[in-house]
Amino acid sequence: MRAMGRHVVLVGMMGSGKTAVGQELASRFGVGFVDSDEQVERRAGRTVRQIFEADGEAAFRRLETEALIAAVGSTERSVIAAAGGVVLDPTNRDLLRRAGTVVWLRASPEVLEARVRDGNHRPLLGDDALGVLRRLDTDRARLYDEVANAVIDVGDLSPDEVATRIALVVA
Ligand code: S3P
Repeated sequence: MRAMGRHVVLVGMMGSGKTAVGQELASRFGVGFVDSDEQVERRAGRTVRQIFEADGEAAFRRLETEALIAAVGSTERSVIAAAGGVVLDPTNRDLLRRAGTVVWLRASPEVLEARVRDGNHRPLLGDDALGVLRRLDTDRARLYDEVANAVIDVGDLSPDEVATRIALVVA
């Protein structure tokens, strides 16, 4: 692999496969993997859902920015899965753009809906996941586009197949 411009950062909506693809990619590249939600949970000693419920979304977003600053600031190259809402904050978008190669894992709300059933860290979805995903997609697509150096349409590709495509882009 060519020396990565520093980190490889995966962005995209909930359910786009950032964590599974990121883990696969990091193991292929032999570098570390960092998931921003996991970092938030580790730093806060609470789950994403607990933070949302006790302190609200704004408090979660502040912790998310702190986790992102730590992740991109690492001197060790890594693959970073940046949670879906990271792009909402202009400071975060700036951090992402300077972090290395940013890849947008793009998928339709219908595809995402089928994939978000696993996991308990997505309190925003409530009981109308498809409706919420459609709304978030409308609000965020231009923000993912703004930060991304490359876009992969994940469709029904497996994490392995997506990782192979990304490796072509960053190699
Ligand atoms: C969110 C995405 C989630 C998690 C939180 C909010 C969002 O992470 O940070 O539920 O606003 O899109 P994933 O993108 O890893 O699911």
